[in-house]
Amino acid sequence: MTTAEPQPTPGRQRYRVPFNDLAIPQAETRERYLAAIERVMLHGRILLGPEVESLEQRIAAQLGRQHACGVGSGTDALMLAFMALGIGLGDEVILPAMSWIASANAVKMVGAHPVFVDVNDEMNIDPALVEGAITERSRAILAVDYCGRVADMDALSALAERHGLALVEDGAQAFGATLEGRPAGSFGVMSCFSMNPMKVFGALGEAGLVATDDPALHQSLLALRYNGMRDRVISHQPGFNGRIDTLQAAILLCRLDELPDHVQRRQVVAGRYDQAVPAGLWRPALRANSIDTQFSYCVRSPQRDRLADALERRGIECKTREWDYLPAHPALAAERVVSDSKAKRFSAEMLCLPIFEGITDDEVALVCQALAEAAEELAAMEADGAR
Ligand SMILES: Cc1ncc(COP(=O)(O)O)c(C=O)c1O
Repeated sequence: MTTAEPQPTPGRQRYRVPFNDLAIPQAETRERYLAAIERVMLHGRILLGPEVESLEQRIAAQLGRQHACGVGSGTDALMLAFMALGIGLGDEVILPAMSWIASANAVKMVGAHPVFVDVNDEMNIDPALVEGAITERSRAILAVDYCGRVADMDALSALAERHGLALVEDGAQAFGATLEGRPAGSFGVMSCFSMNPMKVFGALGEAGLVATDDPALHQSLLALRYNGMRDRVISHQPGFNGRIDTLQAAILLCRLDELPDHVQRRQVVAGRYDQAVPAGLWRPALRANSIDTQFSYCVRSPQRDRLADALERRGIECKTREWDYLPAHPALAAERVVSDSKAKRFSAEMLCLPIFEGITDDEVALVCQALAEAAEELAAMEADGAR
């Protein structure tokens, strides 16, 4: 077991404050993870081992769901959810025009068509625009909890029920979030998560999960995640190998205990940024009594590129989100866009600041200072331009 002082990671060598840093500098944490891996090596049930079931049970209980099925990734989770619902060739799934590409790709991968609808000021699909997207081929609404804030699930559930559609939650960015007291992952007929390492609740590799209250759908998911086999031998329907890895489940069990601290740390960092963000930079709305996991701390400005440049020159690594405007992807160019004006503008103007559990108070202070200086620089430029 290594006790050497960790060296600065490549991200921290390149930037004064990196956008993210997945290294685990705390020796005590690494030792707990190594012990969990050692337990798997000792019991030897490497595929679908006991850690998978423990994780599924703990997450189902935490979400208030009857069942949870661990899968290989968030993309697998979405594909398997659509397959279990029987969504396929020629069907349509309505989803926001702004998300991570996997939300739409998963629809395409089962042979269905994504239909894009605009977002609201919470940056989630706007329920008021969904009805206009429904056709006789519509089968589901995919509600993405974008950037860690849960979508307007009450309005979406009502719509789905009224039109006989399945509501599927893509909670990939929102594990740990709540909407008016109810957890992300508790909405719709099925909810899907990614637990890749970029996520607030992330493994040390690829992982995902589907939660549901429907026992028949759960049985389908269990079969579909392993070649359609119901008894580990005979396949009853085509599926693929989308099982969660036992080693990742073992790590995730450790990380589930850490999650409240991680979310709390992100809240503290976001609170500091809220104080420092100059007037004029837009922040998305959040409902009362709701928790935003701060998966991503985004601001918006028509001067996005200048702001990014000013922050980068001060050693702050930021990320843009223009490719979250999904219809821009060549892979999705032929798909129907019903409405998209906010999604287009938001994704063109958004800039995400560094936020992760391990960011230090000094680093947060550097970001705040850089924000203030950048705002002054931009204001001076504007004044010059006006002269
Ligand atoms: C909203 C959303 N959906 C789906 C996914 C896909 O998850 P994964 O990368 O684990 O396949 C992601 C993850 O990146 C995501 O952010």
